[in-house]
Amino acid sequence: MTCFSKIFAGGRIGCRNAFVSFACYAVTLPALAQQPLKTLLVGVDHRSVMSLNGDWHYLVDQPPAKGLYTAEGKVRDNGYALNTHPNISSGPHNEEYDFATAPTLKVPGDWNTQDPTLFRFEGVVWYQHDFDFQPKPNTRTFLHIGAANYRSFVWVNQKRICDHEGGFTPFDCEVTAALKAGSNFVVIAVDSTRQVDGIPSVGIDWFNYGGLTRDVSLVTLPMQFIDDYDVHLKREGTFSAANADTLAGYIHVEGATAGIPVTLQIPEAGVNTTLKTDAEGRASFDLKASKLDLWSPETPKLYKVELASGQDELTDDVGFRDIRVDGTRILLNGKAIFLQGANMHAEAPYRTGPACTDEDVKNIFGFLKDLNANFVRLAHYPHDERMERAADRDGIMVWSEIPLWQHISFDKPEVYAKATYMLNEMIRRDRNKASVILWSVSNETPNNPTRTQFLTNLANEARKLDPTRPITSALIGPHAKGNEMVQHDPFADALDVVGQNEYVGWYEMRPEDADNIKWTLPQKPILISEFGAEAKQGIHGGKDQRWAEEQQVNVYEHQFVMINKIPQVRGLIPWILMDFRSPTRNIPKLQDGFNRKGLLSEDGKKKQAFYLFQTAYKARSVGKAE
Ligand code: GCU
Repeated sequence: MTCFSKIFAGGRIGCRNAFVSFACYAVTLPALAQQPLKTLLVGVDHRSVMSLNGDWHYLVDQPPAKGLYTAEGKVRDNGYALNTHPNISSGPHNEEYDFATAPTLKVPGDWNTQDPTLFRFEGVVWYQHDFDFQPKPNTRTFLHIGAANYRSFVWVNQKRICDHEGGFTPFDCEVTAALKAGSNFVVIAVDSTRQVDGIPSVGIDWFNYGGLTRDVSLVTLPMQFIDDYDVHLKREGTFSAANADTLAGYIHVEGATAGIPVTLQIPEAGVNTTLKTDAEGRASFDLKASKLDLWSPETPKLYKVELASGQDELTDDVGFRDIRVDGTRILLNGKAIFLQGANMHAEAPYRTGPACTDEDVKNIFGFLKDLNANFVRLAHYPHDERMERAADRDGIMVWSEIPLWQHISFDKPEVYAKATYMLNEMIRRDRNKASVILWSVSNETPNNPTRTQFLTNLANEARKLDPTRPITSALIGPHAKGNEMVQHDPFADALDVVGQNEYVGWYEMRPEDADNIKWTLPQKPILISEFGAEAKQGIHGGKDQRWAEEQQVNVYEHQFVMINKIPQVRGLIPWILMDFRSPTRNIPKLQDGFNRKGLLSEDGKKKQAFYLFQTAYKARSVGKAE
């Protein structure tokens, strides 16, 4: 394996949805102690690549997935990965699988919404794809997978290439030695089984779409290539618009030793410099631009950044801005801002399934602009890279999060290792996107010392990886004592911005009780990171009729009264922009497998609450930037 070496150790329980029943069984698979990826290519979406998107043959490997796992739970290399073909016209009897005559699934995409027989399937599906390739001398080729949910195992021409765990971040595996001139094939087993020690774990409130859910491509590069870079506005002690013209960061050249030239050009900013790599192949810089128009929602200016070293060159579109916390304020380019946003799962409008196409992203950002939003929380995991690219272009600020959702095995070192490499994958992919202003390490985790230490370490890890952005997390709401809501969670001490989830008027108390609630919250910028109520679009009734659109509006109207009394609130993030699939939401005729807290239905129909926020955001009538 070339991406990273991994040792499985430990055991866990795998729970799988077979078609009709829920089968939990002990899988003696050791836990994954995955090292950070050696190669994680930044800027792949700006490189010319050989796309492998399209029709892939697939075969379902029902539990216990003997095509992939041995009886001891180890990954076998002599199963479906070999992509051989059965003798059907003569003996001797051999294989009992055949990709060549198997049906196909579209990649990128999930299997749940493409094959109705797999709607509730949770387990292993094999993908196989043939492709022609002509290796070029003195090049290296990587298989780039935008995301595969949840664990994936990759072979090319029968050679084991790499594995990956984590359903929402990209990974790259070198396939140079496995490729040959002419026809080749890739086989990928994707196991969507939720794992108790997974991230997320097993009890999630969203649909566990399995598959090669984002773009797949081959990236061919020179022997030395730019795999990572960070180009940002230098953070001085205090921000001053007058001298916000210094850029800092680094360019890393994989395979380079010290003294290799690297050029950095940003023509529109008057930057044209040649740097030299250090012994680790990294070329750092700190330089003045001639002039910079700073990125903001009002002026989402992006600059063409051109990087080159040896035979390699690539460009990116990068915005420059300063984001920081000052007391209880959030400052963008030195100016206090108020975040008027919404939460969003990576659910594709109109068709459901993972949002992974230009069309999906255009629809989602159309909703956000229509809402007069300037912010979006991409819950609860990194979304398709297209989302942050659209946010950069459209001037929508982003909260980006890794899926440490509620109950995680915080007591296991291997789970901390997974969390750190997922954090690394998220930050590496999106650190050059100005729209991303917050990194979040978790959502609604239980308040106990083991979890607090784990997440505090993770928050500090995020600061080491990226000292230019505030760190946040969404905390679970405290229970009311009379009219008092007091947030005691010590993890808030480790955060720069505190996300506060609360559902007054839906999960607890009556909507009108919100008018009298007195909150005690940390003296930091507070974002109301989840609040809302369910309503089925099209059901109308009185303001107290549960599930009616009018009731949802009533909850929010009382919420606004409450929130306006909290001086340090710097943002509203209603849960959620659009109804989304969730296997735990099973009230027939009301939910039918959807969480109905959306301001829109899954087919884009606005509920009355959408107009409430649209008006409030236009009038900036709730909350203050300072
Ligand atoms: C929680 C959680 C969400 C969930 C929501 C709900 O706060 O963070 O993921 O969907 O509440 O219950 O609707």
